[in-house]
Amino acid sequence: GETASRGSASLALCCVVCCALICRLQPCVSIRVCIELCRSMWAELIAFFCGLAVLVALLHAWSFRRFSIRGCHVLITGASKGIGLELAKESVRRQARRVTLVARNEPTLKQAAQECNNVAKEAADGGGRGSAAVEVVCKVLDVTDEEAVMAYGASLAETDPADVLINNAGGTVTKPFDDLTAADFSHCWRLNVMGGVHMCRAILPSMKQRRKGQVVFVSSQAGQVGLYGYSAYSTSKFALRGLSEALEMEAGASGVHVAIAFPPDTDTPGFREESQTRPKITEILAAASGVFPPAVV
Ligand SMILES: NC(=O)c1ccc[n+]([C@@H]2O[C@H](COP(=O)([O-])OP(=O)(O)OC[C@H]3O[C@@H](n4cnc5c(N)ncnc54)[C@H](OP(=O)(O)O)[C@@H]3O)[C@@H](O)[C@H]2O)c1
Repeated sequence: GETASRGSASLALCCVVCCALICRLQPCVSIRVCIELCRSMWAELIAFFCGLAVLVALLHAWSFRRFSIRGCHVLITGASKGIGLELAKESVRRQARRVTLVARNEPTLKQAAQECNNVAKEAADGGGRGSAAVEVVCKVLDVTDEEAVMAYGASLAETDPADVLINNAGGTVTKPFDDLTAADFSHCWRLNVMGGVHMCRAILPSMKQRRKGQVVFVSSQAGQVGLYGYSAYSTSKFALRGLSEALEMEAGASGVHVAIAFPPDTDTPGFREESQTRPKITEILAAASGVFPPAVV
């Protein structure tokens, strides 16, 4: 969105510069030449294309306008560690009204909430972005537990429905296909795909009803390119792309938008654990793209 806005801005700037140049040139030529120029087909063509460029730039900027999470209730799954925790901190900095952190382990969740509150306080003390008034809430929930997720969604719809849902909870089993069991495939599918499906079934109806909402699925680079050792993980992360595109098409008409992110290798607790057992070939191939800090991702 940011790149597109910059592109539109550059395009608009080019148009303005062209117009300014044409205006500056005018006094240098005689009135007769000027009239002839105006009558000529070239002038009409230039005017037509300038107008078209301005129109395209405006439409482009409008279609890529950014969703602001300021004042929103942001709900993030897998928010007690790694990428999810970093997303929670960024939501605080961007002045979300309420940030709900979802994970299974309560002590880790509470620690994460404390870190988010510290970020809010630092931002407020420093007079920067973020607000100490943000409410950080912990929710102990297993996203693979359909019944518990649906019950939570129903209670949330009655109290404070989420405006933003980030389906980030996920995990991998990294082994060559021959060493993977059906249970490994099932684990990746249940957590990475069905976890997001349950959350969407629980949260999307209230978003559609209010005609406001943004859903984000956290896929992976392995959701774009299959890599040695990732057959179970990639299967689930590729699936998220189909899910998010179909959902965007369906929910878009109700004012709810769906996006998907494809993070690279990121230095998180999950990644560190995975690195202990990654096959050597996976290590060598993955090294080509490097490892990034969660704050950068
Ligand atoms: N790190 C990477 O290199 C990388 C690269 C590309 C994509 N990703 C994707 O980015 C997302 C986050 O990765 P990460 O590395 O930050 O993960 P992480 O460090 O392993 O943290 C996983 C988070 O998800 C929670 N979680 C796990 N299972 C859950 C469940 N069943 N229900 C609710 N919460 C659950 C964990 O808390 P509890 O255990 O307490 O539940 C924790 O908060 C994942 O979807 C991952 O596939 C990661």
